[in-house]
Amino acid sequence: MATPAGHAPHLLQNDALYKYILETSVYPREHEQLKGLREMTKKQEWHFWMVPPEECQHLSMILKLMNAKKTIELGVYTGYSLLTTALALPKDGQVTAIDINRSYFEIGLPFIQKAGVENKINFIESEALPVLDKMLQEVKEDELFDFAFVDADKFNYGEYHERLLKLVKIGGVIVYDDTLWSGRVVAPVGTPLSQYDAEVRDYFLKFNDFLATDSRIEITQVCVGDGFTICRRLI
Ligand SMILES: C[S@@+](CC[C@H](N)C(=O)[O-])C[C@H]1O[C@@H](n2cnc3c(N)ncnc32)[C@H](O)[C@@H]1O
Repeated sequence: MATPAGHAPHLLQNDALYKYILETSVYPREHEQLKGLREMTKKQEWHFWMVPPEECQHLSMILKLMNAKKTIELGVYTGYSLLTTALALPKDGQVTAIDINRSYFEIGLPFIQKAGVENKINFIESEALPVLDKMLQEVKEDELFDFAFVDADKFNYGEYHERLLKLVKIGGVIVYDDTLWSGRVVAPVGTPLSQYDAEVRDYFLKFNDFLATDSRIEITQVCVGDGFTICRRLI
């Protein structure tokens, strides 16, 4: 998918419209440390992993609208969505951030420190699943999360879902990133896809069907970034 130089894949019909949104509504309001982190991340090998700024602006709005105080993030990379979250939380808010690779987090840490929100972040270097399983053994009803953001290891989204439905409070929100896989969920037959893209696409086709029929949540599919799904826990 063609994108303006340095931008992540997006779902809009044309790049000019995407550029317009970024330049009109997103960049002028982007925190200076988020901007610095975004520019630093652009130089990294896996820069396209970063959650794009227009999506993070949505996440920030959701967090503020629901007065989220206690959140969890699976998949940190250099921390653009993490810094967005920490900035959106109140002074006494806390985000637990899990990633298998601390060195990515350390690339972004100076920006987090300069933004003055390091104290809101509890970074855990680990596979996400065992951490969630340990939390499930220890968690108390009044310690559940308000919000979870899932952006790691697509093939485990279903496993994360079952655990997060017990770790996020009723009325709380789980956001799954990348659920439209930049539109590849409807790639016409014969579209050249890497094996990885085809496998993730197939996984999301099943996962999205599952979310659509899961009576424990209500959902909305958002066509921002490369697509994300907001789930609200009902029971
Ligand atoms: C798409 S990136 C996250 C992007 C990040 N949210 C941002 O805004 O830049 C996915 C991250 O998940 C991490 N990861 C992959 N498998 C994981 C696992 N099983 N448990 C925890 N983290 C994992 C990778 O190290 C990588 O940093």
